[in-house]
Amino acid sequence: MIIFNNGKYKSILAAEPGELNTIRQTVKSDKDFYPTYHLAPPIGLLNDPNGLVFDGEKYHLFYQWFPFDALHGMKHWKHFITNDFQVFQHADDLIPCEPFESHGCYSGGALKVDDKLAMFYTGNTRRLTDNQRIPYQNLAIFDCNGMLISKRPLIAKAPNGYTEHVRDPKPYLTSEGKIRFICGAQRQNLTGTALLFEMDNLDDTPRLLGELDIPKFNNHQVFMWECPDLMKLGNKDIFIWSPQGKARETHQFQNNYHATYAIGQLNQHTFDAEYIAELDQGFDFYAPQTFSGLENKENTILLGWIGLPDLTYPTNQFKWHSALTMPREIQLKNNQLLQRPIKKIYENMTTLSSLTLKGKMEVEHLDRAYLKFDAQNRPFTLDFFSNKAKEKLSLSYENGLICLDRHQSTQTELMIKFGSQRYCKVHELYTIEIFFDRSIVEIFLNNGEKTMTSRFFIADRENVIVTNRSLNIEIGFPKHIQYV
Ligand code: FRU
Repeated sequence: MIIFNNGKYKSILAAEPGELNTIRQTVKSDKDFYPTYHLAPPIGLLNDPNGLVFDGEKYHLFYQWFPFDALHGMKHWKHFITNDFQVFQHADDLIPCEPFESHGCYSGGALKVDDKLAMFYTGNTRRLTDNQRIPYQNLAIFDCNGMLISKRPLIAKAPNGYTEHVRDPKPYLTSEGKIRFICGAQRQNLTGTALLFEMDNLDDTPRLLGELDIPKFNNHQVFMWECPDLMKLGNKDIFIWSPQGKARETHQFQNNYHATYAIGQLNQHTFDAEYIAELDQGFDFYAPQTFSGLENKENTILLGWIGLPDLTYPTNQFKWHSALTMPREIQLKNNQLLQRPIKKIYENMTTLSSLTLKGKMEVEHLDRAYLKFDAQNRPFTLDFFSNKAKEKLSLSYENGLICLDRHQSTQTELMIKFGSQRYCKVHELYTIEIFFDRSIVEIFLNNGEKTMTSRFFIADRENVIVTNRSLNIEIGFPKHIQYV
């Protein structure tokens, strides 16, 4: 075991006495933004969800984590086990401590094999002689109680024809019982793709099968695919991934990077897509992962990172950054993916109360409330929150276009750089559900047909709503997360 301690490539095992406590105090000094019912890092930076697997009784989940600061440093996998996504039990983290993960345990997925949990992940390393990045693909074995048993490297470099950007293995079982995993990759000509590998069993050495080809996907300007995830829902195959480089558009693909999904049929290595769309149209959503593989399911659970690569947030000063989405049930309807919070979130909520909104109204605890109303496909403008600096978050609808506007709230320069409005087109607009959690908003339109997930920062806020027309809303409060 090596205790890495090289600038930002520092493992938690190298923490000085009292160092983590000091960071904890800084996080605690944030009185405005830390969420109550979303998973957020105790200290430091969180990014992608990793290693999602159901062991038959409990859910195991991890996230990318750098404990020391709100920046992308040495990545660990922070580990939790839960039955209900409300009480989370700590389990063994994946801590970089071997030469094949010297610069971090990067993203990956999990598979249950017999009574063990196999975590496939990328070992980020840098060559000593010239600091060249070398990606390993590694395997860590955990037991179902969350104890780490072993780790080993599977592949020690990028295959020929690809750059050092090969990462994020997501495993699944084939109908013949083989273990396959799919990695995001960049070709030597700097275009994005995904690579399929196969193993007979967990002791085997992976063989490269080839690229996953999606002829219908416009790969123009796309330089890298991150976090691929292949699964089956009903009689369709689904591919979810995070392609980087796609040009931004006015009413979709508005962020610097986007999470995308394709629905269709997987034939050998070719994905014949019938429908391709962006997964979420808010300001902050990336690198989602599901609990599924190619075993046939009617629905599955997805978690996403409420954040984006290369973004800073106002909570950087408090040494924490980002959160995960609520667990979302995804299912297919009319060849489109529907996303809704899992039923447990609704079951655990306080009883809903009704309110007729008019003009300006105070709503107690609005900043951690769930709101639901029927827009009846008619225009509206809603302004949420207020403070001395007249900050607010606005949501409006007119003629099939929803707009979430955070220009009158606190933003970092990088947030401003990518624009302060996000739009979402709908055919018609009926049910709107809004989940506020202090600096997070998750919006579900038309029962999950479209979603908009975002951060917003309004300090010292008053819990008020201003509406331009009378609206009957229902209000409830999701249950806080508990860590044990
Ligand atoms: C996506 C990503 C992955 C990588 C990880 C590193 O956000 O860049 O491709 O494995 O984050 O933290």
